[in-house]
Amino acid sequence: MRIGIIGGTGVCDAVSLTDARDVTVKTPYGDALMKQGKIAGVEVLLVPRHGEGHTIPPHRVNYRANIWALWWMGAERVMGTAASGSLNSAMLPGDLVAVDQFIDFTKCRPATFFEGSKAGVVHTDMTDPYCAEVRKALIDSSESLGLRVHRSGCYVCTDGPRFETRAEIRAFSVLGGDLVGMTNVPEVVLAREAGMCYGLLGIVTNFAAGIARRELSHEEVVQVMAETSGRVAEVLCRAAGRLVAAAGCGCRRNWSRLAELRGVGAGK
Ligand code: HPA
Repeated sequence: MRIGIIGGTGVCDAVSLTDARDVTVKTPYGDALMKQGKIAGVEVLLVPRHGEGHTIPPHRVNYRANIWALWWMGAERVMGTAASGSLNSAMLPGDLVAVDQFIDFTKCRPATFFEGSKAGVVHTDMTDPYCAEVRKALIDSSESLGLRVHRSGCYVCTDGPRFETRAEIRAFSVLGGDLVGMTNVPEVVLAREAGMCYGLLGIVTNFAAGIARRELSHEEVVQVMAETSGRVAEVLCRAAGRLVAAAGCGCRRNWSRLAELRGVGAGK
């Protein structure tokens, strides 16, 4: 079993793989870059969501290419990380959150593999978008390291790249959001469409706009990520080891749908 990791801001550099090599995967949506290697004997594919050197902003990430490439390379289970603002007074900067729900406020992103024609019309169940086993692995690994981790949380996704207004954060809070970020949708949606297990480790970098008593800045996010990325990498490494063993969820039932869609073979 191969494990995929999609590293957000500041995380990929902290994850060290043995026998690492760079791989470029050609997909119907463009090329995706990743590192292939091992963590304690487990085969891992590591995708830097924002590209090498963090040059791709959230609204321009090629989410379809990244998820297709992981699927094609045979990553059955994927962990993502996402720097996030907190709307919840119990979720403090530096805390980790095993996200279990999302609310989608993005407006301008291709958000599906299924665009009609050959594939017909496909509606994918999204009741519980995150894999329970990946979430458990993230929670257990964080707790085993003595880290503050919240066992659930609702992630509100915006397009960015701007931060939110005070009124938006107030509204998201009323709707039940705990975290706000710019990257998890459509990533989690596409993984679900592809039949992959997907879990997100939210990393709280700041209180959200209007809750924080000062203006928000990307520097602040980068600073907190620099402080937490080593711990996050350790969580991901431990979780990868747990995930090769567990496999009782039903996420994989849609695995072959992408192959039908493009008339290509199953992932290698
Ligand atoms: N808003 C949106 N995205 C973010 C934030 C935020 O406050 N912090 C880190 N990513």
